[in-house]
Amino acid sequence: MSVYLTTPIYYVNAEPHLGHAYTTVVADALARFHRLLGVQTRFQTGTDEHGEKVLEAAAAAGLPVKDFVDRVSALFRQTWDEMDISYDHFIRTTQPEHVQVVQEVLARVHAAGDIYFGEYGGLYCYGCEAFYLERDLVHGLCPDHRVKPTFIKEENYFFRMSKYQGWLLDYINDYPDWIRPERYRNEVLAFLKEPLEDLCISRPRSRIEWGIPLPFDERYVTYVWFDALLNYLSGLDYPEGEAYKNFWPAQHLIAKDILKPHAIYWPTMLASMGVEPFRHLNVHGYWQVAEGKMSKSLGNVVEPRWLTARYGLDQVRYFFLREMVFGLDAHFSEAALIARINADLANDLGNLFARSLGMAFKYRQGVVPPPGGPAEPDKEVTAAARDAAADFLRHFPALEFSRALAGLWEFIGTLNRYIVTSAPWELAKAPDAAGRLDTVLYHLLESLRWIAALLRPVMPGSALKMSEQLGLGLSLWDHTLPQTLTWGRLLPGGALKKGPALFPRIEVEEKEK
Ligand code: MSP
Repeated sequence: MSVYLTTPIYYVNAEPHLGHAYTTVVADALARFHRLLGVQTRFQTGTDEHGEKVLEAAAAAGLPVKDFVDRVSALFRQTWDEMDISYDHFIRTTQPEHVQVVQEVLARVHAAGDIYFGEYGGLYCYGCEAFYLERDLVHGLCPDHRVKPTFIKEENYFFRMSKYQGWLLDYINDYPDWIRPERYRNEVLAFLKEPLEDLCISRPRSRIEWGIPLPFDERYVTYVWFDALLNYLSGLDYPEGEAYKNFWPAQHLIAKDILKPHAIYWPTMLASMGVEPFRHLNVHGYWQVAEGKMSKSLGNVVEPRWLTARYGLDQVRYFFLREMVFGLDAHFSEAALIARINADLANDLGNLFARSLGMAFKYRQGVVPPPGGPAEPDKEVTAAARDAAADFLRHFPALEFSRALAGLWEFIGTLNRYIVTSAPWELAKAPDAAGRLDTVLYHLLESLRWIAALLRPVMPGSALKMSEQLGLGLSLWDHTLPQTLTWGRLLPGGALKKGPALFPRIEVEEKEK
């Protein structure tokens, strides 16, 4: 059993923004989660560096294209490194290893008869580098760029995508959660109701130079999507590499903007190549900023580095996973982020943690007390911990991050109420209640150990801080999640450590609001 997680490879025509960071953080959290389950995991991200858009951006920056792509690709990589993204492989489509795989695949698919030469006239959007059918246009304009496509007629190479339409339909029907959530599966099924056209996979060099030359015709370069999608295989050293044998098929993560290439072009390419289809296509919605799409031209691009420097990395990761229901659009605003930080992190979790440790220091000199026989409320806490963990372990790999976290926060609420009802400060006053106080404190501390363990994929840094203050050091780190989640592993007699608040409140000036 192994898991191979991928993000889209991002175009280097723009700098990393919130949307890229979201997908990458989701992939990172899933990768960390699977590693914690003891599953062999590979996580790949990277950059998509060919095509017209990139060429134009290089020209606008006044740089030779190779220098430009090196620079922006490095910027993506640095951003992910700064954000502690635990990718195993960073792929670039300008790498010789990738180019070689693309050419090898093209030659093979061509030889097998699935690529043919023909003439095509159609409506072409230069921005998308794609042909559109009338029915795809919105009021006669490209749905993405809002410009009128140009009619162009030229000779090109085509991939026999239409040949695989029936196979693709059957596959989607046979594997209901192959494309998920369901709304995107339905979108693809609706699209497949119309006859599928063949895919134009070449661009004449006379028009664009910046691409991978077709191995069987020097006059053409490869259409950027036929090149880019293959990164998922070339990054595994397909076809002979060990990584390919160990890790394919992939679990892809994308947003809805690139559903069609991933749900239609890619599986039909794989079918033609004789490669097993990917395991899941996981599709999320869009972050909307100030009631609209984020774009450079609108000047509302949120830079991930800026955001994490201002609010903290774990805070942003928590917000991403808690605020967006995977599959649906969500609104991003600093106010929403601050609200989550202050309510969920500083108040609910941060206070619970600080109060529990504070009481253990005040009443038990910072030593984990031995629990006595549990009373009814303590048994309820243990049962709630088990339920919360079981739900979390079920929802997280099903991409229901928000639900997984909401469930964990219900448990945090239960613990905050448990403090109020068991009133340790009263127990501390009564000498014959010492055993009860030990038991209550133990249940709080052990519950916090469970919370730290479950939060590791979401907020790795904060989980580590929690673990250190609970006196666990790295011991929490040596076990798989199911091993860690065994009640009673927090050993009585262990020394707790004082530390700074986990999540400082964000104070907002009235006028700034
Ligand atoms: N290069 C192609 C992908 C090729 S994959 C074989 C591409 N690149 S991109 O830079 O435009 O990245 C698109 C992806 O960035 C989306 O699918 C999503 O993962 C992420 N996002 C970009 N903007 C986003 C939002 N506003 N909200 C959420 N995710 C967004 O397409």
